[in-house]
Amino acid sequence: MAGKWKVEELKVGAILETTFFQNPVGDSSYRFRATHLDGRRAPKVVLSNDPRIRPGVRTQVRIVAVHKPERDDRGWIQVEFVRADALKLEGVWLDPIVSKKLQVLLESGLNILLDGPQGSGKTTMVKAIATTLGMDFVFFNCAAVLEATDFMATIQVRAGEGGQPVTDFISTPLRTAILAAQAEPARPFLVFLDELNRCPEPARNALMPALDATRKVFDPVGNVFLDIPSNVQFVAAVNRGSEFSGTFGIDAAQLDRFAPLQVDYLPAEEEVKLLEARHPEVSKARIKLVVELANKLRQSEELSAGLSVRATEEVCVYLQHPLMENADRGMVGEILKSSFCGRLSGRWSDPTTDAGIAWRIVEDALTEDAKKTKKA
Ligand SMILES: Nc1ncnc2c1ncn2[C@@H]1O[C@H](COP(=O)(O)OP(=O)(O)OP(=O)(O)O)[C@@H](O)[C@H]1O
Ligand SMILES: [Mg+2]
Repeated sequence: MAGKWKVEELKVGAILETTFFQNPVGDSSYRFRATHLDGRRAPKVVLSNDPRIRPGVRTQVRIVAVHKPERDDRGWIQVEFVRADALKLEGVWLDPIVSKKLQVLLESGLNILLDGPQGSGKTTMVKAIATTLGMDFVFFNCAAVLEATDFMATIQVRAGEGGQPVTDFISTPLRTAILAAQAEPARPFLVFLDELNRCPEPARNALMPALDATRKVFDPVGNVFLDIPSNVQFVAAVNRGSEFSGTFGIDAAQLDRFAPLQVDYLPAEEEVKLLEARHPEVSKARIKLVVELANKLRQSEELSAGLSVRATEEVCVYLQHPLMENADRGMVGEILKSSFCGRLSGRWSDPTTDAGIAWRIVEDALTEDAKKTKKA
Protein backbone atom coordinates (compact mmCIF):
# COMPACT_ATOMS: atom_id res chain seq x y z
CA MET A 1 0.00 0.00 0.00
CA ALA A 2 2.81 2.41 0.84
CA GLY A 3 4.43 4.69 -1.69
CA LYS A 4 3.24 7.43 -3.93
CA TRP A 5 0.28 7.00 -6.25
CA LYS A 6 0.99 6.98 -9.99
CA VAL A 7 -1.22 9.36 -11.95
CA GLU A 8 -2.59 6.52 -14.11
CA GLU A 9 -3.77 4.65 -11.02
CA LEU A 10 -6.14 7.47 -10.10
CA LYS A 11 -9.34 6.96 -12.04
CA VAL A 12 -12.14 9.49 -12.30
CA GLY A 13 -15.04 8.29 -10.14
CA ALA A 14 -12.86 6.41 -7.64
CA ILE A 15 -13.72 6.96 -3.99
CA LEU A 16 -10.80 7.49 -1.62
CA GLU A 17 -10.18 8.85 1.84
CA THR A 18 -8.37 12.06 2.65
CA THR A 19 -8.08 14.89 5.14
CA PHE A 20 -8.25 18.45 3.92
CA PHE A 21 -6.75 21.61 5.26
CA GLN A 22 -7.33 25.21 4.27
CA ASN A 23 -5.49 25.85 1.02
CA PRO A 24 -2.48 27.94 2.02
CA VAL A 25 -2.42 29.45 -1.48
CA GLY A 26 -4.64 32.38 -0.68
CA ASP A 27 -5.56 33.38 -4.24
CA SER A 28 -6.36 29.83 -5.39
CA SER A 29 -9.92 29.23 -6.54
CA TYR A 30 -9.96 26.09 -4.34
CA ARG A 31 -10.51 26.52 -0.61
CA PHE A 32 -9.36 23.07 0.50
CA ARG A 33 -6.16 21.17 -0.14
CA ALA A 34 -4.95 17.68 0.73
CA THR A 35 -1.75 15.82 -0.04
CA HIS A 36 -2.67 12.15 0.56
CA LEU A 37 -5.31 9.72 -0.70
CA ASP A 38 -5.99 6.52 1.27
CA GLY A 39 -2.83 7.23 3.26
CA ARG A 40 -0.56 7.35 0.19
CA ARG A 41 1.03 10.49 -1.12
CA ALA A 42 -0.84 11.90 -4.12
CA PRO A 43 1.18 12.69 -7.28
CA LYS A 44 -0.43 16.12 -7.44
CA VAL A 45 -2.21 18.27 -4.89
CA VAL A 46 -5.80 17.29 -4.15
CA LEU A 47 -8.09 20.28 -4.36
CA SER A 48 -11.75 20.91 -3.75
CA ASN A 49 -14.21 23.67 -3.14
CA ASP A 50 -16.97 21.51 -1.82
CA PRO A 51 -18.58 23.49 1.05
CA ARG A 52 -19.35 20.26 2.93
CA ILE A 53 -15.65 19.70 3.54
CA ARG A 54 -14.39 20.37 7.06
CA PRO A 55 -10.65 20.89 7.44
CA GLY A 56 -9.03 18.29 9.67
CA VAL A 57 -11.86 15.75 9.42
CA ARG A 58 -11.24 12.48 7.58
CA THR A 59 -13.40 12.56 4.49
CA GLN A 60 -14.35 10.21 1.67
CA VAL A 61 -14.01 11.93 -1.71
CA ARG A 62 -14.70 11.05 -5.34
CA ILE A 63 -12.21 11.95 -8.05
CA VAL A 64 -13.83 14.38 -10.49
CA ALA A 65 -10.85 15.14 -12.73
CA VAL A 66 -7.09 14.91 -12.93
CA HIS A 67 -5.85 18.16 -14.45
CA LYS A 68 -2.66 18.17 -16.56
CA PRO A 69 -1.93 14.47 -16.00
CA GLU A 70 1.04 14.61 -18.37
CA ARG A 71 2.95 17.19 -16.32
CA ASP A 72 4.98 16.14 -13.27
CA ASP A 73 5.41 19.67 -12.00
CA ARG A 74 1.86 20.94 -12.43
CA GLY A 75 -1.76 20.00 -12.30
CA TRP A 76 -4.09 18.98 -9.56
CA ILE A 77 -6.58 16.31 -8.62
CA GLN A 78 -10.07 17.69 -8.33
CA VAL A 79 -12.38 15.83 -5.97
CA GLU A 80 -15.87 16.15 -4.52
CA PHE A 81 -17.16 15.36 -1.05
CA VAL A 82 -18.82 11.95 -0.48
CA ARG A 83 -19.07 11.79 3.30
CA ALA A 84 -17.13 12.64 6.41
CA ASP A 85 -16.13 10.25 9.18
CA ALA A 86 -17.89 10.71 12.49
CA LEU A 87 -16.48 13.61 14.43
CA LYS A 88 -14.03 12.47 17.08
CA LEU A 89 -12.85 14.91 19.71
CA GLU A 90 -9.62 14.37 21.60
CA GLY A 91 -10.19 13.79 25.32
CA VAL A 92 -13.93 14.42 25.12
CA TRP A 93 -16.65 11.84 25.35
CA LEU A 94 -19.45 12.60 22.90
CA ASP A 95 -22.74 10.77 22.77
CA PRO A 96 -22.75 9.08 19.31
CA ILE A 97 -26.10 10.62 18.34
CA VAL A 98 -25.11 14.08 19.54
CA SER A 99 -21.87 13.65 17.61
CA LYS A 100 -23.73 12.96 14.34
CA LYS A 101 -26.13 15.85 14.85
CA LEU A 102 -23.25 18.14 15.71
CA GLN A 103 -21.42 17.24 12.56
CA VAL A 104 -24.47 17.92 10.38
CA LEU A 105 -24.98 21.30 12.03
CA LEU A 106 -21.32 22.28 11.74
CA GLU A 107 -21.25 21.31 8.09
CA SER A 108 -24.37 23.34 7.36
CA GLY A 109 -23.04 26.38 9.23
CA LEU A 110 -26.16 26.73 11.39
CA ASN A 111 -25.91 28.38 14.80
CA ILE A 112 -25.87 25.74 17.50
CA LEU A 113 -27.30 26.06 21.00
CA LEU A 114 -25.94 23.54 23.49
CA ASP A 115 -28.30 23.01 26.33
CA GLY A 116 -27.14 20.91 29.24
CA PRO A 117 -26.65 20.84 32.99
CA GLN A 118 -23.66 22.48 34.61
CA GLY A 119 -20.36 20.72 34.18
CA SER A 120 -21.59 18.38 31.46
CA GLY A 121 -18.73 19.25 29.14
CA LYS A 122 -20.24 21.95 26.92
CA THR A 123 -17.31 24.35 27.07
CA THR A 124 -14.78 21.53 26.80
CA MET A 125 -16.60 20.11 23.78
CA VAL A 126 -16.72 23.40 21.85
CA LYS A 127 -13.01 24.05 22.45
CA ALA A 128 -12.23 20.56 21.18
CA ILE A 129 -14.39 21.09 18.08
CA ALA A 130 -12.42 24.21 17.19
CA THR A 131 -9.10 22.40 17.66
CA THR A 132 -10.19 19.34 15.68
CA LEU A 133 -11.62 21.33 12.80
CA GLY A 134 -8.74 23.80 12.69
CA MET A 135 -10.94 26.77 13.53
CA ASP A 136 -9.92 29.82 15.56
CA PHE A 137 -11.66 29.49 18.91
CA VAL A 138 -13.19 32.72 20.17
CA PHE A 139 -14.52 32.53 23.70
CA PHE A 140 -17.13 35.08 24.70
CA ASN A 141 -18.55 35.07 28.19
CA CYS A 142 -22.08 36.47 27.85
CA ALA A 143 -22.51 36.47 31.62
CA ALA A 144 -20.29 39.56 31.73
CA VAL A 145 -22.48 41.48 29.27
CA LEU A 146 -24.72 44.16 30.76
CA GLU A 147 -25.54 46.27 27.73
CA ALA A 148 -25.84 45.59 24.01
CA THR A 149 -22.59 47.39 23.15
CA ASP A 150 -20.62 45.16 25.55
CA PHE A 151 -20.63 42.42 22.89
CA MET A 152 -18.39 44.53 20.66
CA ALA A 153 -16.43 46.86 22.88
CA THR A 154 -15.70 47.78 26.43
CA ILE A 155 -15.38 51.40 27.30
CA GLN A 156 -12.51 52.75 29.31
CA VAL A 157 -12.39 56.30 30.55
CA ARG A 158 -8.99 57.83 31.19
CA ALA A 159 -7.69 61.28 31.93
CA GLY A 160 -6.72 63.05 28.72
CA GLU A 161 -4.89 66.32 28.17
CA GLY A 162 -5.72 68.90 30.80
CA GLY A 163 -7.41 66.24 32.86
CA GLN A 164 -10.40 65.98 30.51
CA PRO A 165 -11.95 62.51 30.53
CA VAL A 166 -11.34 60.62 27.29
CA THR A 167 -13.31 57.55 26.31
CA ASP A 168 -11.47 54.65 24.68
CA PHE A 169 -13.15 51.69 23.08
CA ILE A 170 -11.46 48.34 23.56
CA SER A 171 -12.44 45.65 21.08
CA THR A 172 -13.95 42.50 22.53
CA PRO A 173 -12.74 39.12 21.20
CA LEU A 174 -16.00 38.99 19.19
CA ARG A 175 -15.35 42.27 17.37
CA THR A 176 -11.70 41.36 16.79
CA ALA A 177 -12.77 38.01 15.33
CA ILE A 178 -15.39 39.53 13.00
CA LEU A 179 -12.83 41.98 11.62
CA ALA A 180 -10.22 39.23 11.22
CA ALA A 181 -12.77 36.98 9.49
CA GLN A 182 -13.64 39.78 7.06
CA ALA A 183 -9.97 40.24 6.27
CA GLU A 184 -9.29 36.53 5.84
CA PRO A 185 -12.31 34.78 4.32
CA ALA A 186 -10.52 31.41 4.17
CA ARG A 187 -9.84 31.34 7.92
CA PRO A 188 -12.74 29.76 9.86
CA PHE A 189 -13.73 31.12 13.28
CA LEU A 190 -15.81 29.43 15.92
CA VAL A 191 -17.38 31.96 18.24
CA PHE A 192 -18.53 30.42 21.49
CA LEU A 193 -21.20 32.47 23.27
CA ASP A 194 -20.94 30.86 26.67
CA GLU A 195 -23.74 31.30 29.22
CA LEU A 196 -25.90 33.07 26.63
CA ASN A 197 -28.90 33.07 28.94
CA ARG A 198 -27.01 34.88 31.67
CA CYS A 199 -26.95 38.21 29.88
CA PRO A 200 -29.93 40.54 30.10
CA GLU A 201 -32.65 40.25 27.50
CA PRO A 202 -32.23 43.73 25.87
CA ALA A 203 -28.51 43.12 25.39
CA ARG A 204 -29.16 39.72 23.92
CA ASN A 205 -31.72 41.19 21.52
CA ALA A 206 -29.01 43.34 19.99
CA LEU A 207 -27.20 40.18 18.98
CA MET A 208 -30.21 38.66 17.23
CA PRO A 209 -29.57 40.19 13.75
CA ALA A 210 -26.09 38.66 13.95
CA LEU A 211 -27.66 35.25 14.32
CA ASP A 212 -30.25 35.30 11.54
CA ALA A 213 -29.99 35.79 7.79
CA THR A 214 -29.23 39.49 8.35
CA ARG A 215 -25.80 38.55 9.75
CA LYS A 216 -25.11 42.10 10.91
CA VAL A 217 -24.12 43.54 14.24
CA PHE A 218 -23.89 47.15 15.39
CA ASP A 219 -20.36 48.33 16.04
CA PRO A 220 -20.29 51.18 18.56
CA VAL A 221 -16.65 51.86 17.75
CA GLY A 222 -17.17 52.85 14.11
CA ASN A 223 -20.87 53.65 14.58
CA VAL A 224 -21.70 51.31 11.69
CA PHE A 225 -23.22 47.88 11.18
CA LEU A 226 -20.62 45.19 10.54
CA ASP A 227 -21.31 42.28 8.22
CA ILE A 228 -20.60 38.91 9.74
CA PRO A 229 -18.89 36.81 7.07
CA SER A 230 -19.80 33.18 6.48
CA ASN A 231 -16.49 31.95 7.94
CA VAL A 232 -17.82 32.84 11.40
CA GLN A 233 -19.82 30.08 13.05
CA PHE A 234 -21.68 30.62 16.32
CA VAL A 235 -22.12 28.06 19.08
CA ALA A 236 -23.89 29.12 22.27
CA ALA A 237 -24.33 27.33 25.58
CA VAL A 238 -27.02 27.67 28.19
CA ASN A 239 -28.12 25.80 31.23
CA ARG A 240 -31.84 25.96 31.41
CA GLY A 241 -33.94 25.22 34.43
CA SER A 242 -35.41 26.77 37.49
CA GLU A 243 -32.43 25.89 39.65
CA PHE A 244 -30.18 28.54 38.14
CA SER A 245 -30.59 31.90 39.72
CA GLY A 246 -29.24 34.76 37.68
CA THR A 247 -30.32 33.20 34.40
CA PHE A 248 -32.60 34.96 31.98
CA GLY A 249 -35.22 33.18 29.97
CA ILE A 250 -34.49 32.67 26.30
CA ASP A 251 -37.56 33.68 24.33
CA ALA A 252 -38.93 31.76 21.37
CA ALA A 253 -37.65 34.20 18.74
CA GLN A 254 -34.12 33.98 20.14
CA LEU A 255 -34.26 30.23 20.50
CA ASP A 256 -35.49 29.92 16.94
CA ARG A 257 -32.25 31.34 15.57
CA PHE A 258 -30.38 28.31 16.83
CA ALA A 259 -30.47 24.60 16.24
CA PRO A 260 -30.85 23.37 19.83
CA LEU A 261 -28.83 20.36 20.88
CA GLN A 262 -29.22 18.70 24.26
CA VAL A 263 -26.17 17.38 26.04
CA ASP A 264 -26.10 15.41 29.25
CA TYR A 265 -23.61 13.96 31.70
CA LEU A 266 -21.46 11.22 30.31
CA PRO A 267 -22.50 7.65 31.13
CA ALA A 268 -21.09 6.27 34.41
CA GLU A 269 -18.52 3.98 32.74
CA GLU A 270 -17.22 6.86 30.59
CA GLU A 271 -16.97 9.19 33.59
CA VAL A 272 -15.04 6.47 35.45
CA LYS A 273 -12.64 6.12 32.49
CA LEU A 274 -12.14 9.89 32.30
CA LEU A 275 -11.40 10.20 36.03
CA GLU A 276 -9.14 7.13 36.01
CA ALA A 277 -7.06 8.65 33.23
CA ARG A 278 -6.80 11.99 35.03
CA HIS A 279 -6.22 10.54 38.52
CA PRO A 280 -4.29 7.27 38.17
CA GLU A 281 -3.36 7.37 41.88
CA VAL A 282 -6.98 6.78 42.93
CA SER A 283 -8.21 3.17 42.87
CA LYS A 284 -10.82 2.23 40.29
CA ALA A 285 -13.12 0.94 43.04
CA ARG A 286 -13.10 4.35 44.74
CA ILE A 287 -13.71 6.20 41.46
CA LYS A 288 -16.59 3.86 40.66
CA LEU A 289 -18.15 4.53 44.04
CA VAL A 290 -17.82 8.31 43.63
CA VAL A 291 -19.41 8.26 40.16
CA GLU A 292 -22.17 5.95 41.35
CA LEU A 293 -22.99 8.35 44.18
CA ALA A 294 -22.89 11.35 41.83
CA ASN A 295 -25.36 9.64 39.53
CA LYS A 296 -27.65 8.84 42.45
CA LEU A 297 -27.84 12.57 43.16
CA ARG A 298 -28.18 13.53 39.48
CA GLN A 299 -31.06 11.11 39.06
CA SER A 300 -32.78 11.88 42.34
CA GLU A 301 -36.37 13.08 41.93
CA GLU A 302 -36.04 15.16 45.08
CA LEU A 303 -33.15 17.27 43.80
CA SER A 304 -33.55 19.69 40.93
CA ALA A 305 -29.91 20.72 40.51
CA GLY A 306 -27.34 18.72 38.57
CA LEU A 307 -23.93 17.72 39.84
CA SER A 308 -21.03 18.74 37.67
CA VAL A 309 -18.21 16.47 36.52
CA ARG A 310 -16.11 19.11 38.27
CA ALA A 311 -17.53 17.77 41.54
CA THR A 312 -16.49 14.15 40.89
CA GLU A 313 -13.11 15.40 39.72
CA GLU A 314 -12.68 17.44 42.90
CA VAL A 315 -13.34 14.33 44.99
CA CYS A 316 -10.52 12.59 43.09
CA VAL A 317 -8.22 15.54 43.80
CA TYR A 318 -8.86 14.94 47.50
CA LEU A 319 -8.47 11.19 47.22
CA GLN A 320 -5.15 11.32 45.38
CA HIS A 321 -3.55 13.46 48.08
CA PRO A 322 -1.13 11.64 50.44
CA LEU A 323 -3.13 12.98 53.40
CA MET A 324 -6.09 10.95 52.19
CA GLU A 325 -4.17 7.74 51.58
CA ASN A 326 -6.33 4.72 52.50
CA ALA A 327 -9.35 6.99 53.00
CA ASP A 328 -12.10 4.79 54.42
CA ARG A 329 -15.80 5.17 53.67
CA GLY A 330 -16.13 7.62 56.54
CA MET A 331 -13.53 9.88 54.97
CA VAL A 332 -15.15 9.55 51.52
CA GLY A 333 -18.39 10.68 53.17
CA GLU A 334 -16.64 13.70 54.65
CA ILE A 335 -15.24 14.65 51.24
CA LEU A 336 -18.66 14.31 49.60
CA LYS A 337 -20.16 16.48 52.31
CA SER A 338 -18.17 19.39 50.91
CA SER A 339 -17.66 18.46 47.24
CA PHE A 340 -21.20 17.22 46.53
CA CYS A 341 -23.50 18.61 49.24
CA GLY A 342 -21.61 21.90 49.33
CA ARG A 343 -22.61 22.55 45.72
CA LEU A 344 -26.30 22.38 46.55
CA SER A 345 -28.46 24.88 48.40
CA GLY A 346 -28.72 24.68 52.19
CA ARG A 347 -26.51 22.65 54.54
CA TRP A 348 -25.75 18.96 54.74
CA SER A 349 -27.04 19.01 58.33
CA ASP A 350 -30.43 20.45 57.39
CA PRO A 351 -32.60 17.68 55.93
CA THR A 352 -35.16 20.16 54.59
CA THR A 353 -32.62 21.58 52.10
CA ASP A 354 -31.13 20.12 48.89
CA ALA A 355 -27.77 19.67 50.59
CA GLY A 356 -29.42 17.78 53.43
CA ILE A 357 -31.40 15.55 51.06
CA ALA A 358 -28.20 14.81 49.15
CA TRP A 359 -26.36 13.95 52.38
CA ARG A 360 -29.06 11.45 53.30
CA ILE A 361 -28.78 9.79 49.89
CA VAL A 362 -24.98 9.69 50.17
CA GLU A 363 -25.05 8.23 53.70
CA ASP A 364 -27.56 5.53 52.72
CA ALA A 365 -25.53 4.59 49.66
CA LEU A 366 -22.28 4.38 51.64
CA THR A 367 -23.93 2.11 54.22
CA GLU A 368 -25.29 -0.03 51.38
CA ASP A 369 -21.83 -0.21 49.80
CA ALA A 370 -20.28 -1.27 53.13
CA LYS A 371 -22.81 -4.12 53.44
CA LYS A 372 -22.15 -5.26 49.87
CA THR A 373 -18.39 -5.31 50.42
CA LYS A 374 -18.77 -7.29 53.65
CA LYS A 375 -20.85 -9.96 51.90
CA ALA A 376 -18.42 -10.29 49.01
N1 LIG B 1 -18.20 14.52 27.97
C1 LIG B 1 -17.07 14.95 28.57
N2 LIG B 1 -15.88 14.61 28.05
C2 LIG B 1 -14.74 15.06 28.65
N3 LIG B 1 -14.70 15.81 29.75
C3 LIG B 1 -15.86 16.16 30.31
C4 LIG B 1 -17.10 15.75 29.76
N4 LIG B 1 -18.09 16.23 30.54
C5 LIG B 1 -17.49 16.91 31.52
N5 LIG B 1 -16.15 16.88 31.40
C6 LIG B 1 -15.17 17.50 32.32
O1 LIG B 1 -15.90 18.19 33.31
C7 LIG B 1 -15.37 19.49 33.57
C8 LIG B 1 -16.41 20.55 33.31
O2 LIG B 1 -16.70 20.61 31.94
P1 LIG B 1 -17.16 21.96 31.20
O3 LIG B 1 -16.56 23.14 31.85
O4 LIG B 1 -16.92 21.76 29.75
O5 LIG B 1 -18.73 21.91 31.49
P2 LIG B 1 -19.89 22.90 31.04
O6 LIG B 1 -21.01 22.03 30.56
O7 LIG B 1 -19.37 23.92 30.13
O8 LIG B 1 -20.30 23.52 32.44
P3 LIG B 1 -21.06 24.91 32.76
O9 LIG B 1 -22.47 24.71 32.38
O10 LIG B 1 -20.91 25.04 34.25
O11 LIG B 1 -20.37 25.98 32.00
C9 LIG B 1 -14.13 19.61 32.71
O12 LIG B 1 -13.02 19.25 33.46
C10 LIG B 1 -14.35 18.59 31.61
O13 LIG B 1 -13.15 18.12 31.13
MG1 LIG C 1 -19.25 26.05 30.40
